[in-house]
Amino acid sequence: MQDDGIPQLTGWSEAELDQAFAAVARTVEESARSLATADDKEQFRLYWLGRKQGRLKAISDAWLKSAPVEAKKLIGQRFNTLKAEIERRLDEAAGAGAVSALDAEAIDITLPGRQRRLGAEHPLIRTWHEIVGIFQRMGYSVGVGPEVETDYYNFESLNFPPGHPARDTQDTLVVTGQERKPLRERLLMRTHTSPVQIRTMEQQPPPVRIVIPGKVHRNDAADATHSPIFHQVEGLCVDTNITFADLKGTLDHAMKELFGSSVRTRFFPSFFPFTEPSADVQISCPFCGGSGCRKCKHSGWIELLGCGMVDPAVFGFVSKKQPLYDPARISGFAFGMGIDRVAMMKYGIGDIGLLYSGDLRFLEQFS
Ligand code: PHE
Repeated sequence: MQDDGIPQLTGWSEAELDQAFAAVARTVEESARSLATADDKEQFRLYWLGRKQGRLKAISDAWLKSAPVEAKKLIGQRFNTLKAEIERRLDEAAGAGAVSALDAEAIDITLPGRQRRLGAEHPLIRTWHEIVGIFQRMGYSVGVGPEVETDYYNFESLNFPPGHPARDTQDTLVVTGQERKPLRERLLMRTHTSPVQIRTMEQQPPPVRIVIPGKVHRNDAADATHSPIFHQVEGLCVDTNITFADLKGTLDHAMKELFGSSVRTRFFPSFFPFTEPSADVQISCPFCGGSGCRKCKHSGWIELLGCGMVDPAVFGFVSKKQPLYDPARISGFAFGMGIDRVAMMKYGIGDIGLLYSGDLRFLEQFS
């Protein structure tokens, strides 16, 4: 070896050249043994193949410089083979390099993973499911209907004739620009779930036992107990020989399921155009047991829902499409209950607005 570390050639014969190149190849092999990281590989590549300082270039420059013309080609061929060999070694070490690339990205496996917090059922939806479940266990099916409704289904077919004062009890949000349509076809936001009573009976012959939960809309100013959007569960039961006693028994059972078996119910005369007779249902105050407290305004009772026997006039509207709804042969009851009110009572919520606020401090209490 010379002082500059370049191995010396002993002669220009093929045998001598082969020997000299074999010696260099052994050095390559040795230095390729410990290629573990991307860094190692880069060092190896620079050491051997570096364009300016690379050892292969230095050796080839030194050997070619002094070589006779006829040996230059033989030397060139052998350098190409050696270069290919070095590149092959680099490729082989690629696997090791990939692992070390992970090292370079510094993934810290001791860091806590990304948290995906579990959602929880909204108290309104939870109450919705609870009420629906109680009636499903009594054999009721579950239905839905549109929130944008026609005047016919929301009012007329439920026996609210145009101009009838009972319409004023449900201050209605109407869709604009429909003055050219006949009144019964004009669209509005349904003010109650009762229109789905008619839609259900038009779709299927009696008997019917169904509950219909959903969103309803009224032009009410928001305060602690009013919201322009709220929720109801409608109930409808139609069959032969359905009586007011069935209505009382069904609702009494449902209230006991919902608020506890010690809760009592009582029925007061009321008015709805689509039920006759009609009643408001009160339950004994679940907070004080009926002795009187702030929650029941010291009366011991809380009014919770409206109900009644389906008015024969309603069957009259339905029988235009389903003649089997003949009031001479069948009878039924209906009821409507506010889901928001029930949720507020069950979970001690003082302001209905919280149910629509999306405030996490409120919602997290139900997770
Ligand atoms: N739809 C009535 C309301 O919203 C409630 C009701 C439903 C009353 C069914 C009787 C029967 O006020």
